[in-house]
Amino acid sequence: MELRVLDSPSDVAAAAADLVAEAASLTQALRLGVATGRTTEPLHSALVERAKDGRLQVDGLSVFLLDEYLGLPEGDPRRFAATIQSQLIEPMGLPSSALHGPDTSAEDIAEACADYDRLRDEGGIDLQILGIGRNGHIAFNEPGSPPDSECRVVELALETRADNGLGAGDPHRAMTVGIASILRARQLVLLATGPAKAEALAGAVVQGNSTVPAAALLDHQALTVLADSEAAALLPPAMIAR
Ligand code: GLP
Repeated sequence: MELRVLDSPSDVAAAAADLVAEAASLTQALRLGVATGRTTEPLHSALVERAKDGRLQVDGLSVFLLDEYLGLPEGDPRRFAATIQSQLIEPMGLPSSALHGPDTSAEDIAEACADYDRLRDEGGIDLQILGIGRNGHIAFNEPGSPPDSECRVVELALETRADNGLGAGDPHRAMTVGIASILRARQLVLLATGPAKAEALAGAVVQGNSTVPAAALLDHQALTVLADSEAAALLPPAMIAR
């Protein structure tokens, strides 16, 4: 693991965007795994900025979601697909067909999950961006998710629902890729910003605490962790190279 602690969330976003741009310059038709949430919003703006000024090669870029809420109709603005469409796909000038996610409208959800794992695996994911939940979740792999988990339907933890602003009428289940699929990406970039992530980050990268889903990432050969100083507050100084 390479851990970099930066001053601010915008520095984290810039560093992550530079890693994506570097990967895109080395790989034709980059297959990029993205994560939704507050942490990655500044990254998406930084990626769009780089796409517009030519620092990020977007020809042939395809974008893969980690997860999607269940029970929302096509076009619902709460869908992660809608979020990524408006934060990345449209402003980068990519066709909608460049965005891939699990098919939550399928009659056979188990089959749709297997199809999505297959689609991600066919060409592989070159670089997977990840955020971390306050409870250490990655994608929607909540605590207790095994490292060999694959795409499946999950019940969202109460804490996750609250953090995502989900009320009584909002979805309480989601389709998520599993930890195993995340670990199959060639390169992983985990972002953590703000004080609310300090405990989860320390649990994952210092203690390798196996109840923290993000701890499974430590087994990956090409993991970069980018944290701002608030999220890194509980990491031992010896780990922190600025
Ligand atoms: C969400 C997503 C994750 C994300 C995490 C953190 O629910 N499913 O992919 O990384 O929770 O979200 P945020 O960045 O808003 O704290």
